[in-house]
Amino acid sequence: MRTRTRTRTRDIASDADSDADADAGHRIGRGLGRGRGRGASQRTRTRTRDIASDADSDADSDADSDAGQGIASDADADADIGRAFGYPDLMKIDELPTPCALVDLDRLEANAERMAERAHELGVRLRPHVKTHKCVEAARIQTRGHFGGITVSTLAEARGFVEAGFTDLTYAVPVAPQRLAEVVELGARVERLAVLVDHLDTVRAIEEVGRTHSVVLPVWLKLDCGLHRSGVDPEAEASVVLAQRLAASPQIDFRGVLTHAGQSYRATGREEAAVVARDECRVSRAFVNRLAEDGIAVPEVSIGSTPTMTSADDLAGVDEIRPGNYLFFDAFQAAIGSCGLEDVAFSVLATVVSAFPERQRAVVDAGALALSKDPGPTHVDPACGFGRPVATEDQHPLPGLRLTSLSQEHGVVEGPGTAALRPGTRLRILPNHSCLAAAGFDRYRVVRGLEVVDVWRPIRGW
Ligand SMILES: Cc1ncc(COP(=O)(O)O)c(C=O)c1O
Repeated sequence: MRTRTRTRTRDIASDADSDADADAGHRIGRGLGRGRGRGASQRTRTRTRDIASDADSDADSDADSDAGQGIASDADADADIGRAFGYPDLMKIDELPTPCALVDLDRLEANAERMAERAHELGVRLRPHVKTHKCVEAARIQTRGHFGGITVSTLAEARGFVEAGFTDLTYAVPVAPQRLAEVVELGARVERLAVLVDHLDTVRAIEEVGRTHSVVLPVWLKLDCGLHRSGVDPEAEASVVLAQRLAASPQIDFRGVLTHAGQSYRATGREEAAVVARDECRVSRAFVNRLAEDGIAVPEVSIGSTPTMTSADDLAGVDEIRPGNYLFFDAFQAAIGSCGLEDVAFSVLATVVSAFPERQRAVVDAGALALSKDPGPTHVDPACGFGRPVATEDQHPLPGLRLTSLSQEHGVVEGPGTAALRPGTRLRILPNHSCLAAAGFDRYRVVRGLEVVDVWRPIRGW
């Protein structure tokens, strides 16, 4: 099938109309057209004016590739949308319907590589947390060159990753006793599905389910190293008693002590995050030594958060690390120095839908469901807003724009930069918290530069 469409778009990179004239020769018929992605044959001609240079720029692009090797069902769905509404092609990000989740593959691969190198240099095993993206393709990149273990935050993730072939998983939220049968069922299909506990009642429930199913469950003791969210108190005698029980129980394979220094998000920079990392190691080591005095052997120590793992200089006494956010990063991590804005691999593409330049205000179609209502790094930047507006083409920060409020499907942008915004203008927003923002989407458009090269489907639910 041959389609010919004409669209009119306005880009954040332009303060004037831009015409996109697309003469798309791509085939979107069922058999061949599974490939709207890598497989589509197309010819597009676009004309845009750049706001930064305030000058016209013409871009002519020809791209041909073989049909028939595209992305199965997602491509079909996109092709259906394209057919119904006349989008010229979904190969370029400025042609995507918004709001839309973009994953920049070059940045993501660089982030994965950097953390992998850090783990090697610091002499620890990397068991990345996959809760940020909940996506098999991303986890495969994250575990490249490592032992392949991952950390999950829901049993739905555990199931999805088990089915995708991952065999060593830690479910890193204290397990609800009611869901232990599920843990046993999933655990029987893999080398190891470990859970964590911080309460005697859960330990009893594990022992009971272990006896019922004649299994031994791998269990970590969750230690509170300063976040005060979950985890046993390292100073309390009851914590030693609980560890003793775990180490002695015939239904439990005691894996060791696990911490998460989420308080590192209160750091104002790398130096402070490094101090939190040192603290996390010190508290874990002290607890392990205290258990040793009582004759309790702790097989391993597992720690990790993104701010601490991007800044730590010494992880003596630690066996594995579990950072997760670092793969995407976000505006928050950039603000506290875990990364640069240019490293952020996840963004939300949005379109201006209302504009009131006289009031220095505009509205985009990315609201709380697309960006989350995470207030952001207000401790370092009280005016940070609900995400960082950046240019669509190269993600450079757009001055004079602040995302001041969000409702379900509206994002209110204010500031002098709104003078350049009109309905149809596109911009990218770097969310404050990429894990939460990503969770609002049923698919990620994976891009290299401005080209969509793949579509990834994250796991949803609990
Ligand atoms: C137990 C646990 N481990 C590891 C992580 C990963 O931390 P981050 O998201 O900072 O990379 C988290 C995040 O919430 C967590 O709860």
